[in-house]
Amino acid sequence: MSSTETTNDGASTKVEGLQEFTLRLRRYDPESGKPAYYEEFTIELEPHRSVLDGILQAKNDEDGSIGIRCSCRAAICGSCGTRINDKPGLACHTHLDEALKRSKDGKITVEPLGNMPVIKDLIVDMDAVHWKKQARVTPWLLPSEPLPEREHIVPREAMVDVTQSMACIQCGACVSDCLSMEIDPLFVGPAALAKTYRFVGDPRDARHQQRLNDLAQDPHGLYACTHCFNCIEACPKGVAPMSQIMRLRRIASQDHHIVDRNNGERHEMAIVNSVKKYGTLNEANMIPDSYGGKLHPASARAMLASLPVITKALLRRKVTPKSALFHPKSPDQAQIKRIYREVGEREQRLEHNLYITQPDEDPAEIAAHEAHVAAAAAREAAAKPGVDQTGAGA
Ligand code: SF4
Ligand code: SF4
Ligand code: FES
Repeated sequence: MSSTETTNDGASTKVEGLQEFTLRLRRYDPESGKPAYYEEFTIELEPHRSVLDGILQAKNDEDGSIGIRCSCRAAICGSCGTRINDKPGLACHTHLDEALKRSKDGKITVEPLGNMPVIKDLIVDMDAVHWKKQARVTPWLLPSEPLPEREHIVPREAMVDVTQSMACIQCGACVSDCLSMEIDPLFVGPAALAKTYRFVGDPRDARHQQRLNDLAQDPHGLYACTHCFNCIEACPKGVAPMSQIMRLRRIASQDHHIVDRNNGERHEMAIVNSVKKYGTLNEANMIPDSYGGKLHPASARAMLASLPVITKALLRRKVTPKSALFHPKSPDQAQIKRIYREVGEREQRLEHNLYITQPDEDPAEIAAHEAHVAAAAAREAAAKPGVDQTGAGA
């Protein structure tokens, strides 16, 4: 692949490795009064260059009015969040060749992020949604008073624990594809809840209980996430917002014993108890158990409100009258009880921080790991037939 480029002094020069790509950009200017439309631009760049580079080339060479927000061009500032071929991400962090592979028709489609109003073309109004939700969760440390004379001494593990949520660059990709937010625009959302974990996981913050209670009691808060996993898939920095939300829920219910008025905690307990009792989810009991039991007035109201859903479930045979009345127990009850017992007896909850991928820096652990690796290598060498164990060679 090669192409001819014209230099500033007008001379022609051959550039190796260039490839043509077609970008299909969603254009929209609210001031024009016209509806949104798609416009195609042909750009020529090396395949490993980013979609953002392609958009900037189209803007520089063909149409200066293309609206795109960007700054660092290195996946740091979070400005260039867009939807590329139907998936949210960073335009500066998506290679043209990769985007082309994911396109259905050989054209790279770029659209603004979802769940936020469009200001122009690919620029969304982050203030109207994303930043408003960040402000909702008091995104700064609230330490206890009096402050220490010098610095806070924080255990290393505690800071390691919050690194995953600290990695957020506020790009809004997770907000774009959050299914709960699509249905309920007031939902606090994945990015703001991940930010909450950044402080609830920090021992210097003195308002864990208040933060958690506030978000648990909010009908659009902690329990409004429907576990669709979209935010985990969307996040370019591995923050895994849904995992942070689940950790907040565990801390709220198990450590702070917060029972919320939205029945979120009861619903989770209903699931835990159903699996403990039957080994599977007894759908028929979910509503009554989530609303305080079969005889609770709130439960009757919830059942009435859910009649259309219940009818659909019966028609589709997701639930049958027989399975509702006599939900079968899965055969391996002893195993299920053992799992519950072992997890329940643990002194500490095990939380996996998926962001930490480096080996631990504890010298004792490193030495133990190295000894383990050396012993495994020695065993493998000893097991190989015909290998000279003296190391003198064959
Ligand atoms: S998992 Fe929850 S927070 Fe994340 S995108 Fe889905 S509904 Fe939204
Ligand atoms: S959590 Fe990830 S996707 Fe969401 S705003 Fe932060 S960096 Fe972007
Ligand atoms: S331009 Fe900064 S993250 Fe893409």
